[in-house]
Amino acid sequence: MRTALVTSSGGEYSVTVGAGVSGSLGNSLRSLFPGLRRLGIISNPVVWSLHGPSILSHLGADLRTVVALHPDGEPAKTMATILALLDRFIEERWERRDPFLVAGGGVTGDMGGLVAGLLLRGVPLVHLPTTVVAQVDSAIGGKTGVDHPLGKNLIGLFNPPRAVLSDPGFLRTLPLAQRRAGLGEVIKYAFIGDRALFTLLSERIEELVSDDFHAGLWEEVVFLSSADKAGIVSRDERESGERMLLNFGHTFGHALEGAMGYSGILHGEAVALGMLSAARISGAMGLSTPATFGAIRDLLRRAGLPVTWPGGISFEHIAPYLGRDKKSSRGQVALVLPEEPGSVRIVRDYDPALLSQGVFS
Ligand SMILES: NC(=O)c1ccc[n+]([C@@H]2O[C@H](COP(=O)([O-])OP(=O)(O)OC[C@H]3O[C@@H](n4cnc5c(N)ncnc54)[C@H](O)[C@@H]3O)[C@@H](O)[C@H]2O)c1
Ligand SMILES: [Zn+2]
Repeated sequence: MRTALVTSSGGEYSVTVGAGVSGSLGNSLRSLFPGLRRLGIISNPVVWSLHGPSILSHLGADLRTVVALHPDGEPAKTMATILALLDRFIEERWERRDPFLVAGGGVTGDMGGLVAGLLLRGVPLVHLPTTVVAQVDSAIGGKTGVDHPLGKNLIGLFNPPRAVLSDPGFLRTLPLAQRRAGLGEVIKYAFIGDRALFTLLSERIEELVSDDFHAGLWEEVVFLSSADKAGIVSRDERESGERMLLNFGHTFGHALEGAMGYSGILHGEAVALGMLSAARISGAMGLSTPATFGAIRDLLRRAGLPVTWPGGISFEHIAPYLGRDKKSSRGQVALVLPEEPGSVRIVRDYDPALLSQGVFS
């Protein structure tokens, strides 16, 4: 097991990655919360039916648990679900000293983190992420939230966890399409600064999307990516500077998801295309050579991710969504543009006409 540390406004916490994380779950929770007597578990029926029994078996018999399952999927990431989860724990007469374990993908993590932040003005939480996206991204950094009909993640708060426990073994049951989409975010870390990860992916990316699950390689990839995110959010928790780099691929990615009504494309697939959009714009501005675009496309292709825009989606379709990005300031969205593998640049002043270069066939 390996650990990366995060410093946050809520204190320091560790992200532990390794196959042994699940087996020592009970011990980890007891050392984080001495005197632990009751644990709230937030999960969903898909994750819980696959992994609930083993999670419970690792907690120890003397621990009381209250398991609250929310409906699966992004459409359930709403305030209505948050209120139902709050109801459940209020009816259980929850107390502030009783922590939550949030077990699932990014949807579960974002909602579990919000519920923990709201209930009784704050109940401590531990993330047990079970998807690639959750392990390398959403469980780290303290962002929580739900969607609003007018946009994704518009309601939420910063609520850092007390620990993140990542067992890559959970990824064994993840559908291959979800594993591939998670690699979209992993490739992002390689391009925004992690040259070691870039080398590893360049050598072995096919093994990460093969039918048999390469546990050791996944552990390495999850750890390197987690350490990248841990470092960035430690240096810039509230996204005033460096954290913006994590938005690489997301400006066009989010706009594409919006234009498609958040269906028919996974987030990581949209990010994959968004990274190519950024590379096209960077090329048009003279900040990168065609080799950079080629390097991104090559990795995406080998991971089985899309490299051409979905038919029927033109720049006119996505343009209204570009300005809506939460990261925009004064109407002009800041672009995170690749220079070469391992190096990106934030560009705020540019000719808006260049944005149309981001949609390509
Ligand atoms: N807070 C942040 O910083 C942050 C960062 C990135 C993404 N997000 C959010 O994360 C969400 C996307 O996360 P996601 O991709 O994990 O989606 P998700 O949580 O919907 O999980 C994808 C699917 O996989 C299932 N699943 C989870 N673990 C599994 C396992 N081990 N085996 C089999 N199936 C499993 C889920 O039930 C779901 O059906 C979005 O809502 C996004 O906004 C948040
Ligand atoms: Zn993302």
